[in-house]
Amino acid sequence: MVSKELEKALIEQLNKEYHSAYIYLGMSAYCSKEGFNGSSNWFLIQYQEEVAHGMKMFKYLEDQDVDINLPPIQGVKVDYNSLLDVFKKSLAHEQKMTKNLNILSDLAMKDKDHATYNLLQWYVTEQVEEEATVKAIIDHIKLVGDNGYGLYTIDKELGSRTFTDPTTK
Ligand code: FEO
Repeated sequence: MVSKELEKALIEQLNKEYHSAYIYLGMSAYCSKEGFNGSSNWFLIQYQEEVAHGMKMFKYLEDQDVDINLPPIQGVKVDYNSLLDVFKKSLAHEQKMTKNLNILSDLAMKDKDHATYNLLQWYVTEQVEEEATVKAIIDHIKLVGDNGYGLYTIDKELGSRTFTDPTTK
């Protein structure tokens, strides 16, 4: 059984996952507007991944018989300064998510709630991969600087990303 305090925190996390999806939808819109169609595709897949993260949490809360309430999802901005800026903001967001998940893990540990702790470890591991992927993209963008052909090549590569449900691994 999940404690009331943890229940509340998990519902907040569920909301944060869908908010993340919304952020990435906005980032996809920005990239599309700027002609970075490959990056727009990349963020659209990131959006799908966040929806899958949210669904995993939702199913867990249902399985644990938690009274689920769904607070509103905060609005997002869709204006960024550059391709580098949008990926940097994406990394900063993921780092914030990692921090939240660590706090939640501490809470589950304090409650000796092994099932929830186990669930949260899946998210913590997923964060390592997400941060590393975005960091690598940022490094590539920094490498080419303002070189148009370089940016075009990176964008093209990002266009080849396809969706694989992260919760099935
Ligand atoms: Fe579900 Fe990217 O955090």
